[in-house]
Amino acid sequence: MGKALEGVRILDMTHVQSGPTCTQLLAWFGADVLKVERPGVGDATRGQLRDIPGVDSLYFTMLNHNKRSITLNTKTETGKAIFERLIEECDVLVENFAPGALDRMGFTWERIQEINPRIIYASVKGFGPGPYQDCKVYENVAQCTGGSASTTGFDDGPPLVTGAQIGDSGTGLHLALGIVTALYHREQSGRGQRVECAMQDGVLNLCRVKMRDQQRLAHGPLKEYPQYPNGTFGEAAPRSGNASGGGQPGWVVKTKGWETDPNAYIYVITQAAAFPGLARAIGREDWLDDPEWNTPEARLPKLDRVFAEIEKWTMTKDKFEVMEILNPLNVPCGPILSMKELAEESSLRATGTVVEVDHPTRGSYLSVGNPVKLSDSPSEVGRSPLLGEHTSEIMQDVLGYSAEEIEAARRDGAIGREDAEQPAAA
Ligand SMILES: CC(C)(COP(=O)(O)OP(=O)(O)OC[C@H]1O[C@@H](n2cnc3c(N)ncnc32)[C@H](O)[C@@H]1OP(=O)(O)O)[C@@H](O)C(=O)NCCC(=O)NCCS
Repeated sequence: MGKALEGVRILDMTHVQSGPTCTQLLAWFGADVLKVERPGVGDATRGQLRDIPGVDSLYFTMLNHNKRSITLNTKTETGKAIFERLIEECDVLVENFAPGALDRMGFTWERIQEINPRIIYASVKGFGPGPYQDCKVYENVAQCTGGSASTTGFDDGPPLVTGAQIGDSGTGLHLALGIVTALYHREQSGRGQRVECAMQDGVLNLCRVKMRDQQRLAHGPLKEYPQYPNGTFGEAAPRSGNASGGGQPGWVVKTKGWETDPNAYIYVITQAAAFPGLARAIGREDWLDDPEWNTPEARLPKLDRVFAEIEKWTMTKDKFEVMEILNPLNVPCGPILSMKELAEESSLRATGTVVEVDHPTRGSYLSVGNPVKLSDSPSEVGRSPLLGEHTSEIMQDVLGYSAEEIEAARRDGAIGREDAEQPAAA
């Protein structure tokens, strides 16, 4: 069984999170990803949030699995010549520099196409064309400008960013789809194309249902929001607390131990069809004959009271017990799982979604593996490369440089010295 993207070679100019998550996905599916980094410096995340002095951070090692690293200074003449050879040999160039960085190095889309008309050139930027196109952007800026923050949090509190990295990893995921789509199109057209995804656009795409709600507002209050019926609605889709974004009411309720455990909570969805079972389970079978409670319409204006009653019951059980009781009743519910619980979850280990990987300087580390499973194409999760670990190998095997030429490029400072590349202790 071959890997799905075997034979595809990626020229990976990405750094930090958004771009690296994209090329990491492609690498998991079997693409040969050549990560280009500045000699002696490398991706800034190698040294950020470091837990062990002198060792690549988890930030880096968890975002750069299965790649090869070549150090190259693309601002020197020799470096530019090597970069051109890389463009010739690769199927896809991916980058997420600040706007215009690659152009400033002399590599415009026109120039890149001249070098290799089959190459696909994919970029993440903070914003698309418009007033903010030149701005540098990080995760939370994208969450704030893409509609997520204005709709996350409680109505009486400030906007909130979420822990899910929808700006960085979300945009990386969008870009990966653009790249494989362009690769597929190249099969017929024979030509590469430009693929761009702005983080603002990627976040907005993930907030699609909030744009839905924005338009629904014109036709009356959003009845599934906690502001209904007693609060007020303004001109913009408001923050909805823990309300369910779908047609079925849901909320987070406390479970046993919530006083000391910040994650002793469970999300419960009061799906109409399963409501009778839920009412019986919590000891409120009286609701079933009561027109004040026995239809979704009757319950809608008093969902807070419905969930308060459910909570009285869930507070007597731990979150897993609640799940065990409610699931057979077809009541969708989700215990609030901590990162600790997820890291220890045996079923996630069994599927490879949580993996342990060995690293030469760090030792074994835990990572999130490929969440997408293909039945016929295996996906292995290997460690991240050391800075410049594969410089000579790539120069020789991919680009066909001789040992003398490699040494000359090293003397020029175009590529790094492999024995001197490892980061200094933080
Ligand atoms: C993430 C971001 C804010 C970081 O900004 P930054 O640390 O200032 O880094 P830049 O992207 O501006 O790149 C820094 C410089 O390094 C240079 N550089 C990068 N790799 C190089 C290499 N191998 N050789 C020589 N120079 C290199 C770039 O050309 C750029 O130089 P320039 O400013 O003279 O053009 C910015 O890259 C950005 O907005 N990216 C797009 C959006 C994005 O992906 N954000 C999310 C990141 S998770």
